[in-house]
Amino acid sequence: MDGNGRWATQRGLPRTAGHKAGAETFRRIATHCKNRGVRYLTVYAFSTENWRRSADEVRVIMGLLKRYLLEAVDTMERDHIRLHFFGDLTPLSPELRALARETDEITEHLAADDFQANVCLNYGGRDEILRAVRQFAADCTAGTCRPEDLDEGRFSGYLDSRGIPDPELIIRPSGELRLSNFLLWQCAYSEFYFTDTLWPDFDEAELDRAIAEYQKRDRRFGGVKK
Ligand code: IPE
Ligand code: MG
Repeated sequence: MDGNGRWATQRGLPRTAGHKAGAETFRRIATHCKNRGVRYLTVYAFSTENWRRSADEVRVIMGLLKRYLLEAVDTMERDHIRLHFFGDLTPLSPELRALARETDEITEHLAADDFQANVCLNYGGRDEILRAVRQFAADCTAGTCRPEDLDEGRFSGYLDSRGIPDPELIIRPSGELRLSNFLLWQCAYSEFYFTDTLWPDFDEAELDRAIAEYQKRDRRFGGVKK
């Protein structure tokens, strides 16, 4: 969800106004995904590197998260929206962590095939892989598994995304042509869609364009077309 800051600056507004607008865009796009029959939408909300920003900006982003999580607690069940988090939540405030636990519990009660939004919070692809490796090594030490048993499927089971299919399509708004530490393991065969649109301006029509573009791609996964 990139480009919030630039969107605000272009309008002579503080960067935080861009985050407020971007949060609304998330709500709209999640609804549209759900209506289009998308099963999983994973958004990059806050990276392991975003702590480098001013305390003020971080505080506003965390405040928005809290507000939207509080709202989610009230509406997930009614709207059949599963919510899940990727990332190491330990450095977040106890309040936010408690809310994340609450939304996790609600998610457990929803149907497995309901629409699911995954929110990456204090997430980094490298950090996710390192946490997985640490846990696998700990399990080996504890004697519950052996290094030679590790394969791709088993390793995926140690990631934040365990049980969730790899993304078919990754969309990066705001004109940047990089991945910035997003889903490094999972993106191996994802299709990419880049657009100059800044995230607060990203709308339903843009998502439809991205999906239409995806539908024209020829996915061979390293094989040859039959
Ligand atoms: C994305 O917008 C939101 C977060 C990373 C929290 P940015 O804040 O990165 O916006 P730009 O890239 O500065 O325009
Ligand atoms: Mg940015």
